[in-house]
Amino acid sequence: MIDFTDLPMRRKTYAGANGSKISVIYNGEQYMLKFPPYAAKNKEMSYSNSCIAEYIGCKIYESVGIPVQETMLGTYTTSKGVKKVVVACKDFAADGKVLQDFASLKNQIIDSERNGYGTELDDILQTFEEQNAIDHRVIANRFWDMFIVDAFIGNWDRHNGNWGFLYDSKTDEMTLAPVFDCGSSLYPQADEKLMEQILNDKKEIDFRVFEIPTSAIKHNNSRINYYNFISSLEYKDCNDALKRITPKIDLDKINEMIDNIPVIDDLEKKFYKTMLKERKKRILDFSLKKLKKREKQKKQELEK
Ligand SMILES: Nc1ncnc2c1ncn2[C@@H]1O[C@H](COP(=O)(O)OP(=O)(O)OP(=O)(O)O)[C@@H](O)[C@H]1O
Ligand SMILES: [Mg+2]
Repeated sequence: MIDFTDLPMRRKTYAGANGSKISVIYNGEQYMLKFPPYAAKNKEMSYSNSCIAEYIGCKIYESVGIPVQETMLGTYTTSKGVKKVVVACKDFAADGKVLQDFASLKNQIIDSERNGYGTELDDILQTFEEQNAIDHRVIANRFWDMFIVDAFIGNWDRHNGNWGFLYDSKTDEMTLAPVFDCGSSLYPQADEKLMEQILNDKKEIDFRVFEIPTSAIKHNNSRINYYNFISSLEYKDCNDALKRITPKIDLDKINEMIDNIPVIDDLEKKFYKTMLKERKKRILDFSLKKLKKREKQKKQELEK
């Protein structure tokens, strides 16, 4: 584990509501160090596991071939002598490019009454059509690919400020930014007691596969339930992303990555591996099977 204490600091600051962040130079490159935030919803827990979730979530994105920030786990000892586990996220906007989030792209739509941070699905999809900054297929595919991976890792916070673009102010070019902020995934406020309880009770697992977390994206003003939405097969672009991403998820490799994390114990590893296995099987694999069956039936009808 790398000790990130006493590294040269940069003046760059980072926003976000989930924990302190500083900018440091490690091995000649700039990193955002993310500290664990307080676990507001779990009073028995001092800090949430969001740094571990950030690391696992980003490694999963990487494993399915979606560009994502580079992450490393390490420790940082505060001036009060408290040692914390932190996640270092390589700054992908360090070479003069500016990160512009999707919320700001949504603000560009002049005649719209919607605000940039509104996450109603149909408004988001309409913004893809109306904006001219980036090829509409490119942005839609990234959105749905992220939706599928976020469903897998149980991310409840992919709001419009948590994905975006890199803008080059010299050339006026804009490209997709690597994926960042996966810290609100994998039930980050579950402590050891709760993990144990969930692992020993099928109903608790079911609840965390079929009901929570919900997506930050809303449909008819309610947060989307990942299972209901994906298995409904109603959105073609979502179905296409399901077909693209699901076969790329290699649970053995993901389990190995989790097993190699030094700072967490066996219970925590088992918890993440179990929840990922269940979410894949019952949300993604189930929906993909249903989709393939439907496609086969349609094909047979056409051939009749
Ligand atoms: N790897 C990175 N390189 C450059 N900038 C980044 C990177 N990761 C995040 N940022 C910027 O820093 C901000 C805060 O980071 P992040 O979203 O991870 O924090 P957070 O506190 O979890 O946010 P939220 O309020 O969404 O929970 C982001 O909104 C983005 O503008
Ligand atoms: Mg964020």
